[in-house]
Amino acid sequence: MQEITLHDLEFIEILSEKHLLESIKSLGLKIREEYYDKYPLVLVILNGAFVFAAELIKYFDFPLELDFVRYRSYKGLHSSGEIQKSLPFPGQIEGRHVLLLEDIVDTGLTLSVLTKDLLDQHPESLKTACLLYKPEALIYPIEPDFYSFQVENKFLVGFGLDYKGLGRNLRNLYQLKPGKKP
Ligand code: XMP
Ligand code: MG
Repeated sequence: MQEITLHDLEFIEILSEKHLLESIKSLGLKIREEYYDKYPLVLVILNGAFVFAAELIKYFDFPLELDFVRYRSYKGLHSSGEIQKSLPFPGQIEGRHVLLLEDIVDTGLTLSVLTKDLLDQHPESLKTACLLYKPEALIYPIEPDFYSFQVENKFLVGFGLDYKGLGRNLRNLYQLKPGKKP
């Protein structure tokens, strides 16, 4: 298992790139069955979901529209409890089959605020897919419709996820080493 240091903290690998990509492939094929004839609007939640989304849409071999929203809730190692919306989607949601792509569902705050904002605009359907799901951390009553991995309630980096701006470019997924939290 590879170990890395980002800023002041040490992390240990928990999922390899190979394992992540295999799981995303089977998730992509499963989601494909549901959307291939629906011309969905795929909304990627920036920043963290960009790597997951880029891999997942390789299995979406049908017409779709893809765009980005930026909803931010994390500061450093913890959820801030507030949502910063800096890039709401400007297009039409009404009547569309919307699929939200998120990197990780933690307290559920980001997904619950975003799904409420979207449901207010009357989509035909709305579902969410995430790479990682931390069920032990869930506070808000929302669960992803599709996910690749359930993970422990520990801070993660890599494969799009960052610690204070570092680590998004790492190919594997890493967990904060026990006892290393300041
Ligand atoms: P909530 O609490 O809104 O959190 O469900 C979801 C958002 O918080 C970020 N997040 C993390 N980012 N490592 C990260 O780098 C983590 O372990 C982690 N947990 C949550 C992430 O941006 C996600 O969109
Ligand atoms: Mg995010």
